[in-house]
Amino acid sequence: MANYIDRFNAADRILHWAVAISFFLLVLSGLGLFAHTFFDYFDLFGGPQQGIFVHKWSGVVFLACSVLLFLRHVGETCSFDEDDRKWIAKLGGYLSRKEQEIPQGKFNAGQKLFGIFAIIAALIMGATGFIIWDPTAFSRELTKFSLMLHGLFFTLFMVGMVVHVYLATIGNPGTLEGMLYGQVRKRWAKKHASKWYRKVVKD
Ligand code: HEM
Repeated sequence: MANYIDRFNAADRILHWAVAISFFLLVLSGLGLFAHTFFDYFDLFGGPQQGIFVHKWSGVVFLACSVLLFLRHVGETCSFDEDDRKWIAKLGGYLSRKEQEIPQGKFNAGQKLFGIFAIIAALIMGATGFIIWDPTAFSRELTKFSLMLHGLFFTLFMVGMVVHVYLATIGNPGTLEGMLYGQVRKRWAKKHASKWYRKVVKD
C-alpha cells in the first residue's frame, strides 16, 4: 500500500511474539512461586507441579528468543548519537506539554535503553533460574542470593513491561501495526523515526 512502509519482517515478528507469549506464561506460572497470595494461579496450569514445569520450560524459550531478538536488532539498539542524547535529556518530550520532535533512527533512545535492559534482565533471570532450577544443586547461600535477584528482576521487568506495552499501544497509536502486520504508516514513520524513514525511502 502506497502510504505504508516495511518495518519488521516475519522473522522479527515471530521472535518478538514468542518472547511476549513466553514472558506472559512465565508471569502467570511464576506468580504462585513469588507470593503465597497468588498460589491459586497454579490452578490455571492444573496444579503447582504442572505450573512449575511450564515456568521452567517457558523460561528456556524466553531466554533463547530474547537473545535472538536482541541479536536481530543489536546494530540499532546499541548505537547512540547526539540526537539520542537530546532525546534522553528531554525524556522524549513525554513530560512536556509542547509537541517536541527529536529526529530518531529506527528505534528511539528510550526503546534502545529498554532493549538493553530487557537483554540484561533476561540473562540475569536465566542464570539465576538455572541455579534455583534444582534448589539442592548449589550452596544454600548462592541459591538464596539467586532467589533474591530473580524476584528483584521480575519486579523491574514488570515495571518495564507496563511502560513498554503502554507506549507501544495506546501511548503511540500506529506503533502496534508494525509488530502485527510488518508495516507502518509513512506518517507514523516521519513523526516517530524520521532519520530511519529518510534512510528507507532513499534506499
Ligand atoms: C503484549 C505485549 C507486548 C506488546 C503489545 C509489544 C509491542 C511492541 C511493538 C509494537 C514493538 C515495535 C515498536 C516499534 O515499532 O518501534 C515492540 C518492540 C519490541 N518489544 Fe515488545 N511488546 C510486547 C511484549 C514484549 C516483551 C514481553 C518483550 C521483552 C521482554 C518485548 C521486547 C521488545 C523489544 C526488545 C522490542 C524492540 C524495540 C525496543 O527495544 O523497544 N516486548 N514491542
